[in-house]
Amino acid sequence: MPDESIELAIEIEWFGVDVHYQGQRTEEGDSIARTLFETVEYRAHAHGLSTPDMPLVLEVDEDNLDAQGFWEHLGFELFEWAQVESDRYLRMIRSASE
Ligand SMILES: CC(C)(COP(=O)(O)OP(=O)(O)OC[C@H]1O[C@@H](n2cnc3c(N)ncnc32)[C@H](O)[C@@H]1OP(=O)(O)O)[C@@H](O)C(=O)NCCC(=O)NCCS
Repeated sequence: MPDESIELAIEIEWFGVDVHYQGQRTEEGDSIARTLFETVEYRAHAHGLSTPDMPLVLEVDEDNLDAQGFWEHLGFELFEWAQVESDRYLRMIRSASE
């Protein structure tokens, strides 16, 4: 778990791919999910209020093991736990350098 403290980060509020496109590839052979996420990331970093050193942060339900694997595959790691009412979430982070 990273020991850095986050002051400013790009928070991905929600991310999902329509079920018909999950596991699908573009004509170039790239994952649609990964391609979509890279577009989100690019646009977030291009925003005037973001800086190149801002990490990306998101939350994923503790039971959503498929999504956790997806995020780990994209370089995210557990940062901390969050509790919202009876639901527990992993907060995951990926530094800007990856
Ligand atoms: C999570 C989600 C976005 C992943 O999209 P997907 O279409 O299933 O992902 P893909 O099958 O195209 O996989 C994309 C890449 O991640 C990898 N991957 C996917 N799931 C993985 C897992 N559980 N473990 C390891 N790698 C995984 C794939 O191997 C692929 O790698 P590659 O690009 O190097 O070939 C999608 O399943 C989804 O929208 N789920 C419902 C909403 C949701 O749970 N959102 C996340 C909430 S935080």
